[in-house]
Amino acid sequence: MSPDERDEAESRSLDARVIKGFGQEWSRFRNDRLATEEIQEMFDLYTSVFPWDQLPECAEGFDAGCGSGRWARLFAERVGQLHCIDASKAALDVSRETLSDLHNVKFRHEDLCSIGLEDASCDFGYALGVLHHISDTELATTTCAAKLKPGAPFLVYLYHDLEERGHVQQQLLKAVTPVRFVVARLPSRLRALAADLIALTIYWPLARLALLLARTG
Ligand SMILES: C[S@@+](CC[C@H](N)C(=O)[O-])C[C@H]1O[C@@H](n2cnc3c(N)ncnc32)[C@H](O)[C@@H]1O
Repeated sequence: MSPDERDEAESRSLDARVIKGFGQEWSRFRNDRLATEEIQEMFDLYTSVFPWDQLPECAEGFDAGCGSGRWARLFAERVGQLHCIDASKAALDVSRETLSDLHNVKFRHEDLCSIGLEDASCDFGYALGVLHHISDTELATTTCAAKLKPGAPFLVYLYHDLEERGHVQQQLLKAVTPVRFVVARLPSRLRALAADLIALTIYWPLARLALLLARTG
């Protein structure tokens, strides 16, 4: 096997592991119990730069890497047709179930590097928290872009190094990065256990404290 072929095989197996991991994650955390106001608040933040007013009536577009479909529900309310695409069958099954009451959503079990939609057929697209998980980010991005009509918006959220944020946030990111590196590589049961422990000992107390502070003004 040549070095190039080895790199390609490694990327494929890394992508397969990532996709499997997300399938497990979305099957367990389906997001269907999140408070409507909470999800709406996050959606408004993510889409604050999205040019809604430039979309044609009955716009058709795609959610690249839809996961549990949490954003698809809110996009679907405002457009004509939405294609939810995900390489994880388990994740797509969750979104199919949670969005079963919507009649303008179609589901596609596909890799973003080879989407079957016609080129230049979509009025918009979005990929929230997805493209950085794909080993060939560039190919996935150009494949998505090719599906858009000229000038159509493509909303992308990518992990970034928080360079523009304050020192505290940057240091926190530095501190958690090695933990994420280790946890992400654990076998699935151990990974779930580690996530539960972190949630119980760190996120839950912080969330309670934030609630208390918010209530006491
Ligand atoms: C972090 S999740 C984000 C899900 C959703 N966009 C959200 O914000 O809730 C990343 C999603 O991308 C999907 N994914 C990863 N690699 C993919 C690929 N090559 N093609 C299509 N989907 C992929 C995963 O299965 C997962 O559902």
